[in-house]
Parts: sequence; C-alpha cells; structure tokens
Amino acid sequence: MNFTKTFLLFFVFFLNLNALLPSDAPSLGNPPDTHAIVTVSTIEELNSAIYDAVDHTTIWVKSGSYDLTTLAQKQLSTPNNYKLTDLVIRGETGNPEDVIIEGVSATDDSATFGIQIWDTENVVIADMTFRRVFYHCVSIHPENGATQVKLYHLIFEDAGEQLVKVNKGTDNALEGLIIQYCTFKYTDGVPNKSNGECYSNGISAHYVTGMILENCLFRNNYCQDSGQLCGGNILVWSKSKDTQIIGNTFYNYAQGIVLGLNEDEDDHTGGIVKNNIFYRAKTTNYQQDVSIYVISKNAKVYHNTIITEDSYYAPLEVRYEFATGVVFKNNLLDSGFINYRNNAPDANQNSGNIFDVETDQFYDYDSQNFKAKNENATFVDKVDTIQECNVDFSLITRPQGEKSDIGAFEYKLDDSNDSDNDSDDDDIVSSAQNIGAHLFGKILILFSFLLILFKF
Ligand SMILES: *[C@@H]1O[C@H](CO)[C@@H](O)[C@H](O)[C@H]1NC(C)=O
Ligand SMILES: *[C@@H]1O[C@H](CO)[C@@H](O)[C@H](O)[C@H]1NC(C)=O
Ligand SMILES: *[C@@H]1O[C@H](CO)[C@@H](O)[C@H](O)[C@H]1NC(C)=O
Ligand SMILES: *[C@@H]1O[C@H](CO)[C@@H](O)[C@H](O)[C@H]1NC(C)=O
Repeated sequence: MNFTKTFLLFFVFFLNLNALLPSDAPSLGNPPDTHAIVTVSTIEELNSAIYDAVDHTTIWVKSGSYDLTTLAQKQLSTPNNYKLTDLVIRGETGNPEDVIIEGVSATDDSATFGIQIWDTENVVIADMTFRRVFYHCVSIHPENGATQVKLYHLIFEDAGEQLVKVNKGTDNALEGLIIQYCTFKYTDGVPNKSNGECYSNGISAHYVTGMILENCLFRNNYCQDSGQLCGGNILVWSKSKDTQIIGNTFYNYAQGIVLGLNEDEDDHTGGIVKNNIFYRAKTTNYQQDVSIYVISKNAKVYHNTIITEDSYYAPLEVRYEFATGVVFKNNLLDSGFINYRNNAPDANQNSGNIFDVETDQFYDYDSQNFKAKNENATFVDKVDTIQECNVDFSLITRPQGEKSDIGAFEYKLDDSNDSDNDSDDDDIVSSAQNIGAHLFGKILILFSFLLILFKF
C-alpha cells in the first residue's frame, strides 16, 4: 500500500472514531433513487417547494441567506391539510452555516418560526441554520399528525422561545424523533420577551417515546436577566418515556437536562443519560442551577462529566417519592452532590461516582479538556464496565485496561498525544470536547492532499 492510501485510510478511520461533534457529522449521502429532486435558491421557491411537495421528495437548498420576513406567513411550514410522506429538506453543501434561514431577532415578530412540521411523516431536515425568530426555530406538531422526524446537523440560534418545540400529541406519543449533531445556541443568553419574561429551553418535548438526542452542543442557554432562571436545555415531559440523551456537550447553561418536571408519576419514565459533558464557570451574570434533574422512574445516569466549579450546590437532583430506581453510576463531578428532594427515595444502587475530582487530574483543565492527564489520574481504571456504556464520548471502547474510567472519557494512551493544543479562543467549545483529536484529523487531511499533489 502506498503512503497516500495509508494516510487517507488512516484519516477515514480516524474520523469514524471521533464523529461526535456537530462539525463532524457524517454526510447523509445521496438521496434515494425513488425521490423527486427539487432545487431551490430563494425563500419563495423553498416555501412553494415544501407546500407543493409530493411524497418521497428531496429539496436541496442552495447556499445563501433566506429571509423569512418576506413570506406572508412569516415562517415555513409543511402542509396541514393532507398527509405528506417522506420529505427531506437539506442544505446542498452539507455545511449548516451555508444555508441561513432567518428573521430579524428573538424579540421581533416579523418572523415567527423557522419551520413548523404539521401532518407530515418521515421528515428529515439537515445541514442548515434557523435563527432569529420570535417563537421556535422548529416546531413539531404530533397532534396534527407529525411523526418520524429527524433533525440532523442543524444550527438553532437566538429564538424568542424554545429553540425546538415538540407540541403535545392528543392521542399518541410522538415516536421516531431523532436529533443528532445539532447546535442549540444563544449568542448571549435568552432575552426578555415584551412581557418581561425570559422563556426558553434548548428543546422542550412533550409526550415523546424513545427520543434520541445525541452529539449535540448546547451553548449559552441562560437568561440575560439575572433575576430569572432559564428552563432546561433539554426538557422532556408530559408522559414521555425512554429518552436517550447521549454524548452531548453543555457549555454555559442555567439548567442542563430535565427528565420530567412536574409532580406527576407519568411526566417521564425510564430513559438514559450517558457520556455527556457539562462545563460552566461560576458567575453571577446569570442564574445557575441543576445540571441533571430527574423525576423519572428507573432512569439511568451513567458516565457523565460535570464540571460546575461549585456554581450550584447540587448538580444532580431527584424529586418525588414515585421516582424509584433512579441510578447514578460512574459520573465525574468537581463539586456538589445528589440532592434527594420532596421524599425522593435514596437510591442504594448508586456506585462509582466521584464528586470532588481535582482539576489537576485533567489533561488540560484551562482549555476544558477533561480527559485524564495520564494513566494515574484518580478516575482511570476504577469501575466495572457497564454493557450499555461500552464506548465513551469519543467512541473509544470501554474498558481500556482492566477497568473502565469514571466520567465521559476513557483514557487511551495514544490519544493524549494526538491532542494539539488549540489556543484559539473562538474554539473553546472544541477544546471542551477534547477536539485536539479533531484538529489532528484536519492536519491529516492536509497531509494527504500534499501527498496526492506530490504524486500526481
Ligand atoms: C426583564 O424583565 C424583567 C421584568 O420586567 C425586568 O425586571 C428585567 O430588568 C428585564 N431584564 C432585561 C435584561 O431586560
Ligand atoms: C496549552 O496551551 C496553553 C496556552 O499556550 C498552556 O497554558 C497550556 O499549558 C497548554 N496545555 C497543554 C496540555 O500543553
Ligand atoms: C504512573 O504510576 C506508575 C507507578 O507509580 C509510574 O511508574 C508511572 O511512571 C506513572 N505514570 C505517569 C505518567 O506519571
Ligand atoms: C508525546 O510524544 C512525544 C514525542 O513522541 C513524547 O516525547 C511525549 O512523551 C509523548 N507524550 C505523552 C503524554 O505520551
């Protein structure tokens, strides 16, 4: 095998191992042969293409900025008077920053929604940005028939209310909701609405069964008004079940994950929260609260890394007496404890959690690289492997060595040396996820191209 091939192969292998950040989302590939293809380059064309779509259509959206305020409806939406099946709407380059669908700002109602999904089943929206709208970037309506929805590699930014909203179905739960490689962010927190309220979540999902939310990034979801507490970045409730929240990153947040909210046994049941990373510094600029709040019977909270610099006394919280069988295993925290409130039963099955890890045990704390500094870090090789957690945040197999590590990362010798030291301030979130490895991948691409150039 020649060098070029070796490098290219190595690169592909590497990407697969680290395909975890929104920016590393694998392409969805070519549309199915059976799809009608429509290409659009203006907001009017996009609006009509969605309205006029027949079953099994892919709409390619060309690069550019799409101004929602010029539409009579001030929003995009799928048809609401008949069932549409198998609709795909994709940015043509694969880079969500190339297709911007936008209004004016979170407090300006000349654009109301990015897109509303009504009576449509089997929908994929991918590779675009929705931003600066008065209500939601995406609003899904199971009560009108929406089902099987995939939001993939999208950026949701600066909406007046929840960035993504799943409305409450009347008869059935929404099934088949998959959200992957999406970025949920505010430029600088959630502003007050005209009534003086800060009202938001990253996502609020009512009545969903088996939602999968993975490899997403949540950033700056807090209230601008330091007198108000922002809702959870991920709020799943109203008879929801079995939510899987995997490998996400939370950076600067008021509340992280809220698995069931109200004092109602059915608000959420089951679910797993694993391999997520949380980081925020202590500040008085915005209100800081729980990282993971659970009222969900039999929920599992495994292998999360939660660094909050003592900004709130109880990063983990369980409430209500019906919340039985909630288990916390192998979570790595720098401060705080699990708070059992409102008669929540103390889970005696908890194990392997560390609540006071020292910052000098991390590879590079100042850049929010929370991998182990070396094989002797206090959380390395400490716990039995949990079968459903047999890979870490970066898809490294657990265990490496005799036992698994505590927290979201599994230490692997080779890795520590892959890391470039990324001191680019704009890219602090990349560092937060130890994307030194990601940079290494980019360098390999460059190297591969140089080799190809030389050869041909
Ligand atoms: C938001 O509204 C509240 C209530 O009216 C007010 O006290 C607060 O100053 C406002 N904050 C901002 C940042 O506008
Ligand atoms: C990364 O770079 C920063 C700034 O140059 C430095 O302070 C830090 O020690 C470096 N970390 C590692 C792990 O080399
Ligand atoms: C880890 O500890 C072992 C045993 O004390 C020691 O031999 C080894 O050098 C240590 N490794 C590092 C990277 O400090
Ligand atoms: C990384 O590689 C360099 C050069 O091969 C070596 O000197 C250094 O000790 C390695 N560092 C770690 C943490 O393995």
